[in-house]
Amino acid sequence: MVACEVRPRVQRESMRATFFTCSCPIQVTRIPPLLTHPSSEAPNRKQGLFMPTTPKQIAASLTELWSPRVIAEVDDSYIKVAKVSGSLAWHSHENEDELFLVLKGHLKIEMEDRTVEIGEGEMFVVPKGVRHNPLAEHECLIMLIEKKTTLHTGNTVTEKTRSLADQLRPT
Ligand code: NI
Repeated sequence: MVACEVRPRVQRESMRATFFTCSCPIQVTRIPPLLTHPSSEAPNRKQGLFMPTTPKQIAASLTELWSPRVIAEVDDSYIKVAKVSGSLAWHSHENEDELFLVLKGHLKIEMEDRTVEIGEGEMFVVPKGVRHNPLAEHECLIMLIEKKTTLHTGNTVTEKTRSLADQLRPT
């Protein structure tokens, strides 16, 4: 009986936590989540609506370094994955926290007062306003949780900076 009571609630929560119909960020904000039907233009996000997704596998499949891809939407935040190696860029997000979860490998995050080392399966939240520079000595797979308004290199623009439209491309 307990399982029967729990399952519908979980399904409803799952439906509420997702997704959108295409890679256009303007449409994303305009379409109520419960009324959307994912299209084939966003295969990863469609997959996430109906079944568990595989962030580690999606990250491993990426061919560009430091090029985050959105794999899911949860209310006003994006869930992203990336394959990284070397350093990104010193930057900060004045109004947004940023969560890093290491899916495979080892990531360092340099900050002005210290450096944290994040091992596989570990996560770390960079508080808003803190200047930081993610750094991987070897190839590393990460998952990120960021507000939709977060620019992934803050106000610093480098050759590694990617637009949101680029991050929303299907993998
Ligand atoms: Ni950042």
